[in-house]
Amino acid sequence: MSTAWKIIIGVLLAVVATFTIGVLSGKIWWFSEDPPLMVIPDMDDQFHLKPQGEARFFADNRAQRDPVEGTLPRQGRSYPFAMGDVDSAEKYFAAGNPLPKTEFVLARGQNRFNTFCSPCHNYTGTGDGLVQRRGFGNQETMNLTRPAAREYSDAKIFHVISAGQNIMPAYADRISETDRWAIVHYVRELQSKAAGGGLSGASASRANGSTTSKNMQ
Ligand code: HEC
Repeated sequence: MSTAWKIIIGVLLAVVATFTIGVLSGKIWWFSEDPPLMVIPDMDDQFHLKPQGEARFFADNRAQRDPVEGTLPRQGRSYPFAMGDVDSAEKYFAAGNPLPKTEFVLARGQNRFNTFCSPCHNYTGTGDGLVQRRGFGNQETMNLTRPAAREYSDAKIFHVISAGQNIMPAYADRISETDRWAIVHYVRELQSKAAGGGLSGASASRANGSTTSKNMQ
């Protein structure tokens, strides 16, 4: 074989090899939507469970896990009062909401409320959220705008969010302390709106339930 042929065959083999490796490693991606075959797995392809999904690994078959008992998020601190201990909480937080009621704080409160609370309490706080309409809880006690709830202190609302109340779960381990206080400000706004007091400033235009959590994240 002449040298010219050897060079041509060599170049062809190199092209085919590059192409094959390219396809297999997923770097030439326009041929397929399937995940690339990884000879050495990248970190973007990992085993994961779907939230709300099933996982036989755990005794209760739930993929979604509660935080391990006694652990804290890095920026968090534990909430010291048990669900029934409203009195201690009210004494401890007697000074009321430590956050100023600014536009920013209200917007943050609304964002967190719409994300975490509206499924049950509805965007308006009236207690008839989707979960309630599907049969969870009693709209009467879930109505945050009812007169009895309007009488609650900031501390009590903060306590209910943090420690739960009857069948309402506690949120201290998934909503930061600051965000919980921002939510308290926003619940106050919803209550004053329901009482005919109207919402202050820019939050009025956002409180009609159309806001989704995407808006402010
Ligand atoms: C899984 C549904 C659910 C979610 C989510 C939820 N709650 Fe509740 N909440 C309830 C139920 C049910 C009650 C009534 C409990 C009872 O009967 O005492 C309640 C009661 C309350 C009360 C006391 C009302 C009263 O009149 O006694 C407050 C305040 C409250 N929730 C605030 C919130 C806030 C703020 C959030 C979001 C951080 C939230 N809840 C998220 C179900 C939920």
